[in-house]
Formats: sequence, structure tokens, C-alpha cells
Amino acid sequence: MDRIRIVGGAPLNGVIPISGAKNAALPLMIASLLTPETLTLENMPLLADVTQLERILGNHGVDFSISGKRRGETENAGRTVHFTAREIVDTTAPYELVSRMRASFWVFAPLLARMGECRVSLPGGCAIGTRPVDLLLMALDKLGARIEIENGYVVGSAKNGLVGAEIDFPKVTVGGTHTALMAASLARGTTVLRNAAREPEIVDLAECLTRMGARISGAGTSTIEIEGVTSLSGARHAVMPDRIEAGTYAIAVAMTGGDVLLAGARADLFQAAVDALVAAGAKITETNEGLRVARNGAGISPVDVTTAPFPEFPTDLQAQFMALMTRANGVSRITETIFENRFMHVQELARLGAHIRLDGDTAVVTGSDHLDGAPVMATDLRASVSLVIAALAARGETTINRVYHLDRGFERLEKKLSDCGAQIERISGQG
Ligand code: EPU
Repeated sequence: MDRIRIVGGAPLNGVIPISGAKNAALPLMIASLLTPETLTLENMPLLADVTQLERILGNHGVDFSISGKRRGETENAGRTVHFTAREIVDTTAPYELVSRMRASFWVFAPLLARMGECRVSLPGGCAIGTRPVDLLLMALDKLGARIEIENGYVVGSAKNGLVGAEIDFPKVTVGGTHTALMAASLARGTTVLRNAAREPEIVDLAECLTRMGARISGAGTSTIEIEGVTSLSGARHAVMPDRIEAGTYAIAVAMTGGDVLLAGARADLFQAAVDALVAAGAKITETNEGLRVARNGAGISPVDVTTAPFPEFPTDLQAQFMALMTRANGVSRITETIFENRFMHVQELARLGAHIRLDGDTAVVTGSDHLDGAPVMATDLRASVSLVIAALAARGETTINRVYHLDRGFERLEKKLSDCGAQIERISGQG
């Protein structure tokens, strides 16, 4: 297992290219199951989760090929990948594949909508909480599917096709909204989703489905209307920039000081986090090339944040913002309302000298003027990167174990940071 070694203290200066969004790329790839024609996705990030989903889709019969780079393109240009599900050869998604990545459960909707049947392993719990799929199944049940649980598998059938319906989500769910969008696109009649997720990744999927021939209005608001069509076609679509990656590097610059252009980043995709960073003392300006983030001289002010569905502060930046607050001039409160168990980074940040007290769903962070390097490890993607941020500002050396978590969601992290002056390196193959 690889490790990452960081010697803290260097400010970040330069340009960080922002990759295509993991959480948009995954549902877009899954949408390729809806059509026998080719779906071409541009700006695809090279991430472990993307490779894993390619494997899962391959098992269902999806062929994929990667376009070579064109003249003048650098490694920063995302890949262009063509996905073709001419024939679905297997409607079962087995435990061995689904258990490694929760989002792979989302194949349920397109398999059911196109083939009238599917069998997908229950994803089970994960490090950030129980994360059930009851609301995804509720949506499919409303669309007329028969759903049964058999030996750890969810079995769906809709022999005569899905039928449009009114679906009211009792809780905002990104996966539930992706599922309903894909299934309703191929259902007979009209579907209305209420209390739908408004995340930009939902808008990206809706735009791609629309290019494929779906009839969708209202994506990005909490009411989405979908008029079903009998078939979808191929299309070409560019994956949106990763707002969580952009937010992570913006927080890193606020932590270390310096001045970095986040090339391709858009503030409107994570405005709540931008506002929190400005309140903490970062200077953020929008430019034609992306977002410029700087913090020079002044210290970090404490800022309270509460995670909530978009457009509020994203849970996927909670751990990173907490790392920043460990160096603030005062006490901040960070409240997590999306996942019940997303504070595993607290213990590890404490190993670096952070003062954090947990009070139910709130972490009370007392900032201090220094952190000290230490060996740490983390159990999920965003927690791992919060340790990278803390280590960049800590005195001395930090080694981060279980780097595979980072590889799931951050493309070329060490390269992007070291190009801006960070002392960071990957140590291969040691435990
Ligand atoms: N929930 C239910 N029942 C369901 C579905 C969700 O109770 O059937 C609950 C969840 O347990 C959670 C809340 O609803 O408490 C919201 O979950 P949601 O369905 O919105 O999350 P998700 O679709 O499983 C996606 C992202 C997560 C991100 C969340 C929230 C992807 C691949 N994953 O998960 O990203 O935290 O939305 O924004 O898009 C990450 O990238 O590190 C990550 C965890």
C-alpha cells in the first residue's frame, strides 16, 4: 500500500487544473446503459472509482474505448471515453463488484428501465454511515417496478415497462434523484419529482440525458418533470468541473497561505463554501480561467458551518474545512446533518495536535497556532484529504497511510500540490 509523505510549512503558489467531477462522471457513465448507441464523455477524470465502474459496466456488456490525446493537449485535459452498451449481456451486478463502491448500485435504474429486470447486490454500510437505498427503491416502486430482496440482492422487475408517477422524496437524496431521472426517462408518461436534489451533478446528468433524447425540465430546482420516451440515443457530453476538488484546493490555499489559480473552477458550483472561505480570510476572485484563491499575511478567522443539501455547505467539504479551522484564531462549530458518522477525521486531526470536541452532530474546534506532523490514516476519501490539508500546514513530517482512499477521488493530487510548491511525495508499496 502506498503512503504519502508531506513536510509542512510551504505556501502554495501557481496553477492547479481542476479535473472532471467524480460524482458527475459516475452517474453519467451509468447512463450509458440506457441506450444501445455510443455515449461519449469528455473531461473524464482518471480515478480509481471511474476504473472500478468501468469494470462493473463491462460486466453488463458495455464496451468502452479511450480516445488518444489530440495535438497540443496536455495531461491536464481530461480523457474522452466512449461507452457503448449495444447489448446488455448480464442484468446482475454481483456483490464482489457493488460492495466496493456504493454508487455502483445506481446501475439498478437503467438496467430495469431498459431490460425490465435486474438483480443488484445490496450495497451495505460504509465508513460514513449506514447509507440505505430505501428511497431509491421507493422511487422505482412508484414507477411500477416490483422490488424484492433475495439473499442480499435487490431484484427488480417491470415486465411491461415503467410508468410515470409522482414521487415525493421525504429527504433530499442525490442517488435517489439520479435513479428516478434515469428510470423515468424511459417510463411511459410523465413523472414529477418533488423535493429532488438540486446538486450541480444532477443538472449535469439531466443535461446529458436531454442530449440523449430525454425530456426533462426543472433540473437544478426541487421539482423536476420528466416526460418518458421510448428510446434514448447516443450523445456527446463534457463532465462538469469537480466542485469538491476545487473546494478542497481552495481550502488548502487558505490553510497554507499563497496565491493559486484553480483553472476551470466555478464559484457558483460551491458558493456556500466560497462564502465560508472568504469569511475565514481568503481572498477569492473569479477570472476567465477559473478561480483565484489567495491568503497573504492575515490569520484564519473562525467560521461556523452546517452541512446540508445544495446550495448549502457540502458534506464533501466538511472534513477539509474542519482541518482549516484547527488553525483559526478562535472557536468554530462544524455541524454535519447529511451523514450520521462522518467525523472519523477528528481523531486523526487530533494526532496532529488539533483541539476538537465532539458534541453529537457538531464538532467544536478550538484553533491553535500550530499543528505537528505525525503518522495518520483515514477511512474515507474526504477524511484523507483533510489530513493532507492539515499536514501541509503542520510543522515537520506527516505520513498518510491508506492512500488508496485519495486515489478514488483526487486525480494526480501529489503532482498538483507539488507543482505549487508543496513538499509532498508518494512512497510506493510500504504498508
Ligand atoms: N438516504 C436514505 N435513503 C436512501 C438514500 C439516501 O436514507 O435511499 C440518506 C443517506 O443515508 C444520507 C442522505 O440520505 O443520510 C443523503 O444521501 P444521498 O443519497 O444524497 O447520498 P449519495 O447519493 O449516496 C452522493 C455522493 C456523496 C455525497 C452525497 C451528499 C456520489 C457518488 N456520492 O451520495 O459523495 O456525500 O451525495 O451530497 O455522488 C464523496 O464523494 O466522498 C461522497 C460520499
